Amino acid sequence: MGSVGKDDREEVIQAWYMDNSNEDQRLPHHRDPKEFVSLDKLAELGVLSWRLDADNYETDEELKKIRETRGYSYMDFCEVCPEKLPNYEEKIKNFFEEHLHTDEEIRYCVAGSGYFDVRDRDEAWIRIWVKKGAMIVLPAGIYHRFTLDSDNYIKAMRLFVGDPVWTPFNRPHDHLPARKQYVDNFVQKDVAGHAVDAAA
Ligand code: LAC
Ligand code: NI
Repeated sequence: MGSVGKDDREEVIQAWYMDNSNEDQRLPHHRDPKEFVSLDKLAELGVLSWRLDADNYETDEELKKIRETRGYSYMDFCEVCPEKLPNYEEKIKNFFEEHLHTDEEIRYCVAGSGYFDVRDRDEAWIRIWVKKGAMIVLPAGIYHRFTLDSDNYIKAMRLFVGDPVWTPFNRPHDHLPARKQYVDNFVQKDVAGHAVDAAA
């Protein structure tokens, strides 16, 4: 994942802890002072990311390799703007309801930008800003939500293993196996990053 040396993902993916204000969801919602979150920290929560060549996704060998390695056989595009998305207002509202899926949520931003918010281990919201060229994977079972930013437009490639299932399970859905597995893999960890033995 990524290249050795300077990490150029950060030109198209940035993450930070959110403030608690109820202002417009499309605003950045930085804390004061700003608290950025590294891509390594996101990876510890199971959130993977790449920077890809969005002008050439049809021929991109790196994308092809990722799809082969991770089994992403399905692909389509989702454009979020009033003209292209049926039931735009309702979808925008639903995207921002905290939810999880029983499979990975894989999104590759090929135009525009948007915010994926995920919960950290202490339930704080981390806002992930994706711009053109950013591909992210939210693991199955992570609580998250999505909103456009104030530019109001994203075109995302959606990928999936096999036949796509987009069903959102709004919080709380803690009893789902995918949630339990997420908690086991990424939440119940000690500082060294090892899964904590619940029986210990
Ligand atoms: C989804 C994003 C919006 O479920 O979280 O499609
Ligand atoms: Ni989702």
